[in-house]
Amino acid sequence: KAGQLNLLNDPFRFRPQSVNPTDSDGNPARVAEDIRAGRLGNLFNGVGAESGREIQRIAVEESRLKIPLLFAADIIHGLFTVFPVPLAEASSWDVDLAYRTARAAAVEGAASAIHQTYAPMVDVGRDQRWGRVVEGAGEDVLLNTLMAVARTRGFQGQRGLADPQALLATPKHIAAYGAAEAGLDYNTVDISEATLKGVYLPPFKAAFEAGALSTMSAFNDINGVPATGNEWLLTDLLRGEWGFEGFVVSDYTSEQELIAHGFAADGRDAARIALLAGVDMSMVSGLYLEHIPDLVASGDVPMAVVDRAVRRVLSVKAALGLFDDPYRGTSVERERREVGTAEHYALAREAGRRSVVMLKNDGGLLPLPKSGRRIALIGPFGPSLDVFGPWTIWGDESKRVSLEQGFREAMVDPSLLTVIEGSGVEAPVDGGIEAAVAAAQAADIVVLAIGESQGMSAEAQSRADIVVPPPQQALAEAVVATGKPVVVLLRNGRALELSGAVRDAEAILVTWFLGSEMGRSVADLVFGDHAPDGRLPVSFPQLSGQQPFYYSRKTTGRPASSRDEGYKAQFREAGHTPLYPFGHGLTYGEVHYGAPSVGGGGVLPWDGALEVSVQVTNTGRRAASEVVQLYIRDRVATM
Ligand code: NOJ
Repeated sequence: KAGQLNLLNDPFRFRPQSVNPTDSDGNPARVAEDIRAGRLGNLFNGVGAESGREIQRIAVEESRLKIPLLFAADIIHGLFTVFPVPLAEASSWDVDLAYRTARAAAVEGAASAIHQTYAPMVDVGRDQRWGRVVEGAGEDVLLNTLMAVARTRGFQGQRGLADPQALLATPKHIAAYGAAEAGLDYNTVDISEATLKGVYLPPFKAAFEAGALSTMSAFNDINGVPATGNEWLLTDLLRGEWGFEGFVVSDYTSEQELIAHGFAADGRDAARIALLAGVDMSMVSGLYLEHIPDLVASGDVPMAVVDRAVRRVLSVKAALGLFDDPYRGTSVERERREVGTAEHYALAREAGRRSVVMLKNDGGLLPLPKSGRRIALIGPFGPSLDVFGPWTIWGDESKRVSLEQGFREAMVDPSLLTVIEGSGVEAPVDGGIEAAVAAAQAADIVVLAIGESQGMSAEAQSRADIVVPPPQQALAEAVVATGKPVVVLLRNGRALELSGAVRDAEAILVTWFLGSEMGRSVADLVFGDHAPDGRLPVSFPQLSGQQPFYYSRKTTGRPASSRDEGYKAQFREAGHTPLYPFGHGLTYGEVHYGAPSVGGGGVLPWDGALEVSVQVTNTGRRAASEVVQLYIRDRVATM
């Protein structure tokens, strides 16, 4: 039974070049023996149909009880074909798009002998210093909730979990991981029940209602009790109130970390606390396997609690159809057919386009002409193949499209393009600025590709100062000083503080990390084959020090809008407004809103609906699509 609750890294199919090799148990022969002996029921982060079949064969032919293994993986935004990072895709505000990319990722994962994905991440991200904002849908509860549902449905498909192309979804990390103090990853969370239930939990609840049958317990503590040892959260609320019937997996050694939290005395105690709290499966630490037999023998954990956890794991394995076909129809031929298809790459290009947000476009500088003008593409991200973004362990690196390549393909005469890095991401390069200024002077238009590397916005990558790294800011200042028109293409995994030459450039596109087809998606917009229509899923602040910053904050008794000059809720240096608000985004058309009309006598009944309509007109010469947004609040309310 303890073996069914034990989950280890896959040492057979592990990719040491992309994941910390010391993470791996690293000994295939020993792991195979564990499978045979029933000490191991689950593996993660290995992909591949052929070896997957072989490992499964050991379990179902050579172990005593012949219980199939469960294979999980971090398929966050695509597997071989890489789609935009989740925060980028949330900028589309398009749940159908999120459904389609999740579906494509699931098709590739299932064909590669994966059964479960550790996604979607549904943590609300209101503090942009937190490096994992990039993995979710931003600061808003509704957008996060809608994306959580769309992605869950996309991963699991509509034909039931037993469908060979379905992946079990794992909304994570329960709960309030994004509310870490100061945006510092893994940090303490001190939170009111109202905020927990009103902001951080709704996306989880919605994803479970959409059918997700597993979840992952978070690293952080909540009001002094670590999530992974939190019986109120994982049992009273999750099972009792919500009726969740799937299984809970710990995050990477999070039950062992109860010791560092100061919540468990040792490994045995940690296993006991996590199991009793409602963590069914232990990731990597091995503590469940090691201690469950003794915990039960000594009476510290009732056998019924172990049975409960095992039953949950086995039920999900059954729901996935593993007891009917442990191989779920995988084959090398199917994998070849269903992975990295032309349709998936076309979808990646479309999703990339839809994920870009145009912050400004003074004087209609964009779109750029495809011919007749000399373009200098300046900055570390012009030629860079750093397009995937974090959490792409298996992305096909031979199919990454840089901005430079995308531009060359789009331009009628690619010889009019000059590409200069000018700076590294976080360190200057010798002579870089001089070369960049010379290139700018010789060009008609400058495109500045600057921002964060994919390693800068990821797990354990909190930033105290969410700025464009100083060497790139210096590059931008020098280039803008040439007086040439400048388009900024921002590469980022969070909202950034934009200042000086970057903030003042004529045009700014937020391009995030768009995945395999990044260069082509951006070129489609820059050269006007398509118009941008993304909207910010996170507010861009004036200054880093405003974090946490989000639009739906309470007004306070002395709001920034109050008339009293001296005493109000604002910063000396930045007031309390964003540079670009949540929901902002421009397009090439000219979109005008008429006066809204409100039905129902203008009264929104409790528990009822109210219809609001508005005439939206594009008076420009270019096609546009518009995300119509409506914001409401109670003027007078009690909680
Ligand atoms: C730790 C991360 O927090 C989690 O998101 C991920 O799924 C696991 N590692 C497994 O790789």
